[in-house]
Amino acid sequence: MTVPAGRPVTEETIGGLRARLDEARSGGHRVGLVPTMGFLHAGHRSLIEHARSENDLVVVSIFVNPLQFNPGEDFDDYPRDLDHDLAVCARAGADIVFTPGQDEMYPEPVATTVRLGALADVLCGASRPGHFDGVATVVAKLFAIVGECSAYFGEKDFQQLTIVSRMAKDLSLPVSVVGCPTVREPDGLALSSRNAYLSEAERAQAPVLRRALEAGEALVEAGETDGAVVEARMTSVISDAPLATLDYAAAVSPTTLTRSQQPLQGDVRLLVAVRFGKARLIDNLGCRTG
Ligand code: PAJ
Repeated sequence: MTVPAGRPVTEETIGGLRARLDEARSGGHRVGLVPTMGFLHAGHRSLIEHARSENDLVVVSIFVNPLQFNPGEDFDDYPRDLDHDLAVCARAGADIVFTPGQDEMYPEPVATTVRLGALADVLCGASRPGHFDGVATVVAKLFAIVGECSAYFGEKDFQQLTIVSRMAKDLSLPVSVVGCPTVREPDGLALSSRNAYLSEAERAQAPVLRRALEAGEALVEAGETDGAVVEARMTSVISDAPLATLDYAAAVSPTTLTRSQQPLQGDVRLLVAVRFGKARLIDNLGCRTG
């Protein structure tokens, strides 16, 4: 493994990034990619460190992708802090930080996008129509720019991880998608750039997502195989938090993201999405029927 020296190089152009990566690969170097929208925290850092441990050259991309925000969502207000992000990338051992502008990624109005199937219609896709098509389009573009590599995604966004893994497989992209565990605050709240939107009172109640998942997990591991019962239990835990508005609480197959197994059988993924004021928080965990 190459030990990175000092600050990473920033690269703003697709051509410049490709030239560096082609040179590295021709020297036999393995490339790791960590796609992000910036405002980096310890969750992102763990992905970069994971990539660092498995590759010779680590690229972090920072691009707030307009295609994955619906009208009325937080594209304009999405938190941005490039100096902080570069410091995080340096500490975690990134070699290159790819920071393309909007004009570099989308110089013309987009005429070609990735259209996903059923995996994108459920859970977060049901309340954010088109969101995952936007994610898949920018990720496909990043994969095409970077080329052969391993790409690191967080389990925190489990539906995104599932969709991106399937896309790479379905389209035979030369990318190995690696899932990485969720990094949490000591009280169980999953780290997220959107936690910055929480008021003090909302922040105090936000660990309810993790508590709901743990309550669901306890039921599943105790032998409950009725998904509806598990979902009702998670919903009831979330209703104990007065500032929380439930979007969904689901107990599904980790591959189809639906209740394709009824009764629940084998591996189960529990997922919740909850609104606290302006912030929409998500979390999930995997368990097995007892
Ligand atoms: P962003 O929200 O910046 O997340 C970048 C990556 O960090 C994703 O793979 C996400 O799952 C991971 N991540 C976020 N919080 C995490 C946590 N607490 N623990 C572990 N990993 C965590 O996800 C996106 O950006 C975008 O949709 C993107 C894939 C970059 C496409 O625009």
